[in-house]
Amino acid sequence: MDPRPVGVFDSGLGGLTAVHELRRILPSENIIYFGDTSRVPYGGRSAEILLQYARQDVRFLRSFDIKAVLVACGTVSTTALPALQQESDLPVLGVVEPACRRAAVRTKNKRVGLIATAASVRSGAYERTLRRLDPEITVVGKACPLFVPLVENGRFRRGDTVIETVAREYLEPMKDLGLDTLILGCTHYPLLTEIIGEIMGPEVELINVGQESAWELKRTLQSLDLLAPEGSGGVDLYASDQPEDFALQAGRFLQQQLQGTVHGVDIHRY
Ligand code: DGL
Repeated sequence: MDPRPVGVFDSGLGGLTAVHELRRILPSENIIYFGDTSRVPYGGRSAEILLQYARQDVRFLRSFDIKAVLVACGTVSTTALPALQQESDLPVLGVVEPACRRAAVRTKNKRVGLIATAASVRSGAYERTLRRLDPEITVVGKACPLFVPLVENGRFRRGDTVIETVAREYLEPMKDLGLDTLILGCTHYPLLTEIIGEIMGPEVELINVGQESAWELKRTLQSLDLLAPEGSGGVDLYASDQPEDFALQAGRFLQQQLQGTVHGVDIHRY
């Protein structure tokens, strides 16, 4: 048993979809969440810059006495995870491996789609992982660079013509590819589940990477005897810019009323 908190980070609000799952799956854990709102979106940046940002994000989280790090960001998971893991004496988990494991188990026709940020698709990390798990799987990846800025700006509801038009433009061409599984490879995308599901149709199963990573964290903490003693854990939120705006939106991502304030962080100090 270990009562220390788990550190979780993303470029902005998206990783809170993983925190929502963590609260459900590991209700006793305390979570320290950092959203790098001063530098969001991460998705169009180079692997070098992403590693630099991710190192600062981890250093900030490690200014607390945490027991593990969950990289609740597809973009950092696909580009910087091995380096972060190598540099850390704590367990550092990402979203790619658990999501691919789930997709490999769920696909029946072995045709898996991936939608994610440009950096994630460019990295080839999801494809590599899926092929390692099952060489017969065909992966079709598509970058959706406008999704994160739109979601960060609150444009994720059904009936919003802007997000619906953008989603149709990205996804209509994927409908004829015979996919039976679609990985939502970015933690911002679960807010678009209804819109994406409606376009892709009920025969395509959507994989929520944050949810799969939350299960993976549970298994990891269990195996290392690091689970928190039973009780009700909480979430402390930090953001590197405009914490007040972050607070206004966070409840929607967490699917619960926000308790407490969001603290500001000068991430350049880390
Ligand atoms: N939630 C991040 C991800 O999973 C968003 C990346 C971005 O900021 O573009 O990839």
